[in-house]
Amino acid sequence: MERKRAAARIEKLRGAIRHHDYLYYVKDAPEVADEEYDRLYHELQALETEHPDLLSPDSPTQRVAGQPLTSFPTVEHLAPLLSLDSDREEPALVRFDERVRKGLGPEAAADLAYVLEPKLDGASVELVYENGLLLRASTRGDGTKGEGITENIRTIPTVPLRLRDGEGTPPHPRLLAVRGEVIMHSGPFDKLNERLLAEGKEPFANPRNAASGALRQLDPQLTASRPLDLYAYDLIFSEGWEGAQPATQWEVLRILAAWGLRVNPLVRRGTTVADILAYHKDLEEKRDDLGFEIDGIVIKLDDLAAREGLGWTSRHPRWAFAFKFPPRKEVTRILSIVPSVGRTGVVTPVALMLPVEIGGVTVARATLHNREEVVRKDVREGDRVRVQRAGDVIPQVVERIDEPDRERGPVWQMPPACPSCGMPLVERGPFTVCPNGFNCPAQLAGRIVHLASRDALDVEGLGEESAKLFVAQGLVRRLPDLFDLLPEQLVELEGFALKSATKLVENLKKASKTGLPRFLYGLGIPEVGVAVARDLARHFGSLGRLRAADEDTLEEVPGVGPRMAEQITTFFRDPGNAEVLDDLLKRVEVAETAPAAPAAAEAAGPFAGKKFVFTGGLSRIPRRQAQELVVSLGARATGSVSKGTDYVVVGEDAGSKAEDAQKLGVTTLDEEAFLALLKEAGVEV
Ligand code: IVH
Repeated sequence: MERKRAAARIEKLRGAIRHHDYLYYVKDAPEVADEEYDRLYHELQALETEHPDLLSPDSPTQRVAGQPLTSFPTVEHLAPLLSLDSDREEPALVRFDERVRKGLGPEAAADLAYVLEPKLDGASVELVYENGLLLRASTRGDGTKGEGITENIRTIPTVPLRLRDGEGTPPHPRLLAVRGEVIMHSGPFDKLNERLLAEGKEPFANPRNAASGALRQLDPQLTASRPLDLYAYDLIFSEGWEGAQPATQWEVLRILAAWGLRVNPLVRRGTTVADILAYHKDLEEKRDDLGFEIDGIVIKLDDLAAREGLGWTSRHPRWAFAFKFPPRKEVTRILSIVPSVGRTGVVTPVALMLPVEIGGVTVARATLHNREEVVRKDVREGDRVRVQRAGDVIPQVVERIDEPDRERGPVWQMPPACPSCGMPLVERGPFTVCPNGFNCPAQLAGRIVHLASRDALDVEGLGEESAKLFVAQGLVRRLPDLFDLLPEQLVELEGFALKSATKLVENLKKASKTGLPRFLYGLGIPEVGVAVARDLARHFGSLGRLRAADEDTLEEVPGVGPRMAEQITTFFRDPGNAEVLDDLLKRVEVAETAPAAPAAAEAAGPFAGKKFVFTGGLSRIPRRQAQELVVSLGARATGSVSKGTDYVVVGEDAGSKAEDAQKLGVTTLDEEAFLALLKEAGVEV
């Protein structure tokens, strides 16, 4: 077709397809049959192939486009993505309402309105539109900066690449940022897990993890294969309005929907605590039948101008509140209680139960935490119990239900020896531990699973069953052996064919090039979770520097306290661990992390060279934030008091550090004095 005519036809087709997409995905009310839609789509594709210069990124054919990325860029949000104050008890809700009314004053409080929304349990994202086109999208990250996941968000059919405009649609501002939640509906979630299981992969614990896992795929093709949805719930930034701006949240939701974004149909308006309670009750009743996960409701002051008057605390807006649902509970019976050895050697009593469905998930195991908990709850084999599942937390036995007429079994006792390796168990406080470390098969298998897990080296196809098998068959005697496995060894094992064996060895090879945060997390150092591993990597940059760090230096990392610092140094000093680590490093290439902040020696600012220790709680700002604040002013914040400490900030319920300070003659500051010092440095909290 001649270029000019083709251009006109392409525009027409794109408009028609966008319209049908909107009707199908957002409105759930398609006007044309699939065949008709496919015909339009293929015609567009053909014309675009014929005239590649007419391709444009907002064409409906370009949702899944681009090469896999090597990493996600860091993206600064146009406005912070704050979190919400939350509680599951009614008195907290009543207090929220009272505070809002008091803050508004009697006149405004008289005609106050709230918007009530389901609290979607997914991954929060920011979408930025410029001149109506989707410019970029990012994860929430730390609230200020997130990961740029534009390519992945583009694959979600309910996210418009171009905002709807034209007749009857309110004009959009030149630049705007929408906040919303990416979720996976339960149908697709179940299918995805079935598929993962069939492929020998680890299933996701819940739709939230599945959604954020899909968003974090570097290859948009993979994201596109996992059906996601996005509900928009906030306009967090806008600039350059032509028409009138919305004055209420209700209008915001209406406008977002008019622009083609999906707004949850369960949103309502209310004015009183009674309205809120009724909405909460109604959604809790519907919760299991919605087809997507919600974990409570969100209450937002409707009037946007009034919100400004109420303002924010350091973390939350004062105009919104999340009223959460209680965890789901069901009653079932304990069949047996078995000791289970975790990767750190802690032996946990696990209740094996008559399978019961709790909120759409079948539960047959629940943790009893430790031997003291078994005594405290007085549960025995055969007992009837109430079990709860809260988010992705492992199900727990909440309480025993008394059955006066039933004869109960004997009191449960922890066995004297490790059920995996036979080593006598030792007691550490309420915990029971197998001291055999890597020599205990259960612990070694646990370490393998952890090292291969999604947030660590992310080795696809290596789950608990394979790990146990490798250990039992003597193929992996030490963690580094994992990377020496050969396909011909694996094919000998049950459940492996040549294809899967080769694939796993390939995946291990791929995973053996990794970054410091993943590797560190994968080591399974007690107390070092994903966030701490990332902070440590940022602070030290290389594994060498981290291994050489003493406790004082470790405590300079915000969030690392004395106990964690001790765990870390103990781990690295242990000769067995050191040997395993050295051997691992011969097989795994760990990229260094660029340090986030200038080294302490170069620190500048009003507190340069000063050393702070914080103890006890502060009322004006969270302790961690106070630590970060003094660090940003050039100081170091450590966890334990020494002669070199300049100030010990003593908050409420302070521990022994206040006494240490007195003994060593270190200056102590109460909260007021600390705030005064900050004020001198030009910072008002
Ligand atoms: S409003 C300041 N609305 O809940 C406004 N959040 O901490 C904050 N969420 O991470 C967000 N559904 O991802 C809002 N209808 C909704 C929501 C919602 C789910 C999530 C959000 C955030 C968390 C609250």
